[in-house]
Amino acid sequence: MPAQKTLLFVGYGNMAKAIALGIANSNLKDIYRFEITGRNPQKAQKFLEENHLTGEAKIYDPSLGIDVDGKIVILCIKPYALESFKYKGNANSVYSVMAGVNIDTLKQHIISANYVKAMPNVGARYQKSSTAVYMEGNIAEEAKKIISSFGCAVFVDSESLVDASIATGGSSPAFLALVAQALIDAGVREGLKREDALSLVRTTFEGFSHLLCEQSPDQIISSITSPGGTTIEGLFVLEDRAVRGAFIQACHEAVLKCKKKH
Ligand SMILES: NC(=O)c1ccc[n+]([C@@H]2O[C@H](COP(=O)([O-])OP(=O)(O)OC[C@H]3O[C@@H](n4cnc5c(N)ncnc54)[C@H](OP(=O)(O)O)[C@@H]3O)[C@@H](O)[C@H]2O)c1
Repeated sequence: MPAQKTLLFVGYGNMAKAIALGIANSNLKDIYRFEITGRNPQKAQKFLEENHLTGEAKIYDPSLGIDVDGKIVILCIKPYALESFKYKGNANSVYSVMAGVNIDTLKQHIISANYVKAMPNVGARYQKSSTAVYMEGNIAEEAKKIISSFGCAVFVDSESLVDASIATGGSSPAFLALVAQALIDAGVREGLKREDALSLVRTTFEGFSHLLCEQSPDQIISSITSPGGTTIEGLFVLEDRAVRGAFIQACHEAVLKCKKKH
């Protein structure tokens, strides 16, 4: 068996967990070994244990810097935390999921032949992240393999489009959770028990995700909106209150905030 390549995660928060679990449950699990680092040794070790991941928690002397030599580095820290670490050696490649951080900024901190800027989402944990990706370097095949191991990879033509995908990917699970909450509350208002409403809405989302894989939103709406029927009454209220516009504006504000960060 060829020697395993090292995936060095810098950061052990929600995104690191989602990506690491996605990769660990994919067919890449034997190709890569995990190293986890950050500013807190206990948290790095706990991250491996709690998520049942095989790997090594590495803590580097801050004055010497994190050893990235020959490694595939996955930066999963907060954008401002980039300044917290020094990096030594030449990385094989650097993957950053930090919202709003451009490759030029990464180059000022870590030396590597290849840089990948990606915007995954928490679905990575179930290998269902929708990830927009921009890449500089010569590793297109490997980048596709790694990112596809935790979901769908869509390569875009500019870094700015990766930030734009906060709208369709990065932040959207939170927006959808708000819709789910509203539907559950609606069920409760109409007299359903909260746990029953939760269970029904969960399955609605599951079924909806299958429908959306095969049909356009227009087709789905048409198929359940009969003339003079019940659904069109509800749709009229949502359109009257400009819910669609509110979503588009909410996504726009999220993208603006991301771009303002750096
Ligand atoms: N969550 C998402 O849905 C999502 C989606 C797309 C992209 N992202 C990006 O993923 C990155 C991580 O987000 P997250 O959701 O995983 O956040 P998180 O759960 O809060 O984890 C943040 C990580 O950054 C580290 N960190 C924070 N401040 C630091 C500092 N000053 N110095 C050193 N390390 C520091 C934390 O370590 P300590 O615990 O030791 O502070 C932790 O490992 C962000 O850049 C975000 O833009 C997130």
